[in-house]
Parts: sequence; structure tokens; C-alpha cells
Amino acid sequence: MSRVAYVNGRYLPHRLAAVHVEDRGYQFADGVYEVIAVRRGVLVDAEAHLERLEYSLGELRIAMDRSRRALVVVIHETVRRNRVREGIVYIQMTRGTARRDHGFPAAPQTALVVMARSQSPPSRQIVEDGIKVITTPDMRWERCDIKSVSLLPNVLVKQLARDAGAQEGWMVRADGTVSEGSSTNAWIVDSEGKLVTRNLGNAILSGITRRAILDLASSEGVEIVERPFTVAEAKAAREAFMTSTTAYLSPVVQIDDSIIANGKPGHLTSLLVELYDSYTLSAG
Ligand code: PDD
Repeated sequence: MSRVAYVNGRYLPHRLAAVHVEDRGYQFADGVYEVIAVRRGVLVDAEAHLERLEYSLGELRIAMDRSRRALVVVIHETVRRNRVREGIVYIQMTRGTARRDHGFPAAPQTALVVMARSQSPPSRQIVEDGIKVITTPDMRWERCDIKSVSLLPNVLVKQLARDAGAQEGWMVRADGTVSEGSSTNAWIVDSEGKLVTRNLGNAILSGITRRAILDLASSEGVEIVERPFTVAEAKAAREAFMTSTTAYLSPVVQIDDSIIANGKPGHLTSLLVELYDSYTLSAG
């Protein structure tokens, strides 16, 4: 079955789907994006993703040129045309096409691309064995709360991790605290058994999966603290994991050369993996 992408008003065969060479997303990374999971054909937490999309656009003063309802129609249609049951939808909006000039165009026309593809949730092996992360300096700007397509530092961190035989890189700020992963939020269970993840602010993306996990953990009566944690604390943690739309909740069993606890996914981590899996199956 051939894939289809939505590009500025048209559904095109994937191989022909292209934006103009002067699209500002291409020239300046002047745009934002969202990734939404699809489970059994249903979008997971769509409203929260669209809210964050509107927030990112607003912070960059890019016009949202259509209603949320109209955008949802395009998203559903793209999922349908690609026959995605388990997978992801990618939505990108940029400040559109204009003669190259750093300042905003006089009459910007927001550009929209939507793609959908089949993709399985993390494998049983990841869930049962966990993954390795490395730590590396956070080289990003001070507005990581905006889901901008300007991802060069994140790209370099992910490759650094892969080159080191790891699946993710946790980025470390000048004060020694972990901000987040290159495309995931970072979590630990501290020495007192509290679930810890960095508080929201400009240093991290406000993950939609993060929010869901916080809600699930709190309904289980887990004690939660939203605060920065250091690399040393993470290495000495009882448990660690990362979350995102594509990684779901993936246990972390090694950070750099340090094995976390006994090297197996922790008890709370495994419980949250199961709860989040059920949640995504019912979170239409
Ligand atoms: N990444 N932090 C960063 C820097 C991210 O890029 C992401 C998501 C997250 C987790 O957010 P959420 O739970 O809403 O997916 C945290 C997406 C999946 C990506 O870039 O592909």
C-alpha cells in the first residue's frame, strides 16, 4: 500500500510530497511540530497534543490558520489514507514560504504538513531488559518548552548515544542536573522511593506522556516530586526510565557506565509500563 502525505491542502503520494525550497521551516527551522501516537486506529491524547501545538505556535507568533476541528479532520484523513492502526502521526507547521529574509514575511501563510506511518510500540525486549542512556552536555537554547523543528542539538545527542551503543542521551545542564533526553523526558525513583522528574519550565518539553504518567502514578498513590535531579543522583537511583509518544515508557537500566540497581527494570517502572499500555489502549 503506497503512503500518502498531506502538504498544504493536498494529499500527495509520499514520494512526491515536498515543500518549497523557500519554506521557512527548511531555511530557518522556523516552525513547530507534534507527534501523536495511534493505537488501534485511535489518536492518543490528541487534545493535549493540539493544545501544545497551539502553545508552540503562539510562542513563535506563527498564525494557527485553521480551527482545531479542521486540523483534526486532516489528521484523521491522513491516518485513514495510510491505514495506520498502530503508529504515529507527524504534524508540522511553519511560517510558510517567502523570499529569504530573517525577519517575518509581511503576509506569512502558515504551511502544514501531516504524515502518518505504522510503527509498533516499544518491543517486549525493551520493556523487559531496559535500555542504556549516556549523559552529555545540554547545548540547546533556553526555550525547550517550545516544540520547535530546530532539533540540531537533539539530533547530535541521539547519534552520540547510538555511536556509544546506547538508545538515548540525557542532556546535562551547566549546574549538573539532567534536563531531558534528546526526544524523551527523564525520570528516576530516588533513594526514598519517590518518583522524580524535572519540573516544567523552559529547560524541558512539557511531555504529553509525562503528564499521563504523572496522573497514573498519582492515582496509584505514588509519592511524586517534580524537581531537577543530578547525574550522580540518577546513577544511584533505585529505578530510572524515559517517556515519550514513541518510546512510551522505556525502562533505563544503565547510565554511562553505571548499572542502575540490579540492572533490571524496577518494580514501579514495570507497573507504570503496564498502566500506560492500558491507558493508551483506552485513551481515545
Ligand atoms: N519527541 N522531550 C523532547 C525533547 C521531545 O522531543 C519529546 C518528544 C519529549 C516527550 O514528549 P511527548 O511525551 O509529548 O512525546 C520530551 C517526539 C516524540 C519526537 O521528536 O519524535
